[in-house]
Amino acid sequence: KSVLILNGPNLNLLGTRQPEVYGAETLAMVEESCRQHGVKLGIDVACHQSNHEGALLDMIHAAKGTHDGIILNAGAYTHTSVALMDAIYSVDLPAVEVHLSNIHARESFRQTSYISKAVIGQICGFGSFGYLMAMDALVQHCARSSG
Ligand code: DQA
Repeated sequence: KSVLILNGPNLNLLGTRQPEVYGAETLAMVEESCRQHGVKLGIDVACHQSNHEGALLDMIHAAKGTHDGIILNAGAYTHTSVALMDAIYSVDLPAVEVHLSNIHARESFRQTSYISKAVIGQICGFGSFGYLMAMDALVQHCARSSG
């Protein structure tokens, strides 16, 4: 089994970007924790980040046939991108939405997620641990749906 972990705009700045909101870990550190967790779970982990909506769309499209599931933190595109929602619907792969912060406790414009409509579920508010929770959730989901 293989999972694609995709991070969107501004998440390359983790560690220095509003650490009081998003934590002190860099994206490289978060991705390394995911890879280590992947070893424990016995799954392959591929991590990518882009600030470009189109590049994120291309990576979601390419996941079909390559990966068994997607973990997506779409950053601010979460709240704006019908295209990313459609891409997740299009590839028909199980996906989990992750946010470091609790988007429901923040500004009202962050409380709407287009991504949520196309995923199994959303994990937010637990910082980088949310990615590991999402990996567990995907593995459970795939085990259940393959009987
Ligand atoms: C975020 C929440 C978004 O509202 C914000 O635009 C981000 C990060 C999070 O991980 O908490 O860039 O997705």
